[in-house]
Amino acid sequence: MVLEVCIGSSCHIKGAYEVVEKLKLLVEVYKMQSRVTLKASFCMGHCGNGVSIRINKNEITWIKPEACEAFFENIIKNLPDQATSDNYGTNR
Ligand code: FES
Repeated sequence: MVLEVCIGSSCHIKGAYEVVEKLKLLVEVYKMQSRVTLKASFCMGHCGNGVSIRINKNEITWIKPEACEAFFENIIKNLPDQATSDNYGTNR
């Protein structure tokens, strides 16, 4: 799966760099390097909440650095490689 983290200015202020670093670490910890491609993205147009993340074509807009581990354990680890559902908690 492709996991894109917004590095636009609003998400940067909300901790995008820290989110990227934590997700990189979690990918390694859970040995998911062959399943997860981590990329940076420009603004996704959801600047009001937390850091925005796109998983394939689905956007999640509430990620905070301190929530990365729970996000990864509860959502990323349980997704099939080609996730297509749009029910990942968008706009929470
Ligand atoms: S800067 Fe990240 S959604 Fe706009």
